Order: sequence, then structure tokens, then C-alpha cells
Amino acid sequence: MKVSASLTALTIIAVVSARTFTVKNSCSYTVWPAIFTDLNVGSATPDQPTGWQANAGTAVSFNVPDNWTAGRIWGRTECDFSSNPGPTSCATGGCNGGLLCDPHTGTGVPPATLAEFTLSGGGNLDNYDVSLVDGSNIPIKVTNNVGCGVPSCTVDLNLECPTPLAVKDTSGKVVGCDSACTANLDGNPANSPNCCTGSHDTPSTCPGSGVAFYSYFKTACPTSYAYAYDDPSALVQCNSSLAADYTIEFCP
Ligand SMILES: *[C@@H]1O[C@H](CO)[C@@H](O)[C@H](O)[C@H]1NC(C)=O
Ligand SMILES: *[C@@H]1O[C@H](CO)[C@@H](O)[C@H](O)[C@H]1NC(C)=O
Repeated sequence: MKVSASLTALTIIAVVSARTFTVKNSCSYTVWPAIFTDLNVGSATPDQPTGWQANAGTAVSFNVPDNWTAGRIWGRTECDFSSNPGPTSCATGGCNGGLLCDPHTGTGVPPATLAEFTLSGGGNLDNYDVSLVDGSNIPIKVTNNVGCGVPSCTVDLNLECPTPLAVKDTSGKVVGCDSACTANLDGNPANSPNCCTGSHDTPSTCPGSGVAFYSYFKTACPTSYAYAYDDPSALVQCNSSLAADYTIEFCP
């Protein structure tokens, strides 16, 4: 085997085989998309700022390295960065930093519907999903160009959000719906059947049936994570050799 030639070929492939991601705002309102990469897990980051403004009906495409790991994309609503930019600059999904989310600490403030990605993970598979584990704010659908699975939460969960979970903007409109975990309903985040923590930190000790309001989320959005261990119905995998391009659409 010509090792050196193979390595050269692989290097060339790695450089040219970045994926194209498109973030499309099909909502009737402005969304401020955000990207966060857990740099404790992987160093590869998308070729796109960590936050931007997306007017209604617009889309932006950018390159994402083939080995993007532990990445998430979400939308922020009702943002105003003109004073004191930071996590409270948006009604939902705000982050440390302001318009640009801090690369190290700029995860979104719940509730926020997430699109999560690890490309080229174990078994040469892309892993991706739509997650309501941190609550929900905007409907999201993740499509691809190679016929792999399409996770989504297309229902506006704000409309009938259970009162104990509802998050309102300053005008009193419900703009987000916390999960039972992010709402801290049981008051013990370190040992919580809603958060799957402490003595509830395995799939067998944290069944969905033990999570308050699980069925509200799962019935509306069966292909989304409605709690931490929803992998069987919510984790989507795609052969990484297909080098899928992905589109994240808000309000599909
Ligand atoms: C991702 O791939 C690039 C290009 O091959 C490489 O330089 C980088 O080290 C990789 N990053 C990780 C986290 O594996
Ligand atoms: C992924 O696709 C490649 C190329 O078509 C194929 O060789 C490989 O067996 C596939 N892997 C899986 C897990 O299906």
C-alpha cells in the first residue's frame, strides 16, 4: 500500500470536503441565529460568525468542517443589542457576548429549540437531531441533500405551552416553552427525574414517563428530543461518506 500517496489524497479530501450548511429563516419575523461549538470536545468550527441577524425570508450558507463536533445552532427572538449586549439582549436564546456568542461560554439561555450536530462521529456517521431538552422557542426542521433522516419540530409549542413552563416577553406574550428541567419544576436540578441527574442519570432510571409534561412535547414533535434519553426516536445518523449538506430552517 502506498501510504504516503494515500495520506496525501486523504489530506486533499479533508480540505475540500467541508459541508455546506444553510440557515434559512422562514418565520414571518426576524430571528438572530447563533452557533456554538463545545470546544472541550472538538476544535473545528464553522466558517460563519457565532451570531447574526436573519430577516424574515432570508437564508445564508457557509462551510462547516467535515469533523465539526458537538455543535449547535439555534434561533434568538426579539433581540436588541444596543445596550448591555449579553444573555438578556433577546427574549429567548440570548447568549454571553451579544450579537456574537462568546466562543467559550456563549450557549443559549433556555428555552431554545436546538439543532445539534456531530459530523463524522463514531462508525463514520454524522449524528444530528432537533432538541427540546433546553425547552423550545421556534419550530425547526433539519433537512439534507442525500436522503438521510429529517428531524424536526414543526409545531409552535409556545401556543399551548403549559403555564408552569411558559416564558413571556415584556409585553406578556408567550415566546418560549421551558422543559420541566429548565423550568426547575422539581426544585432539585442535581438529582432530578426531569433532568436525568443524580440517581436518575441513566436511561433506565430516567424514563420519559417520569418527566413532567413529556407528552406535551413528544406528541407535538415525535422526532425531537423531548428529554435527555430520547435517542431511539430522536437521534438521526447519516453515513459520513455521503458528505451531506444540511439546511436548518426556522418556521418550516
Ligand atoms: C478537523 O479536520 C481538520 C482538517 O483535516 C484538522 O486540521 C483538525 O485538526 C480536525 N479537528 C479535529 C477536532 O479533529
Ligand atoms: C458508508 O458509505 C460508504 C461509501 O458508500 C460505504 O463503503 C460504507 O459501507 C457505508 N457505511 C455504512 C455504515 O453504511
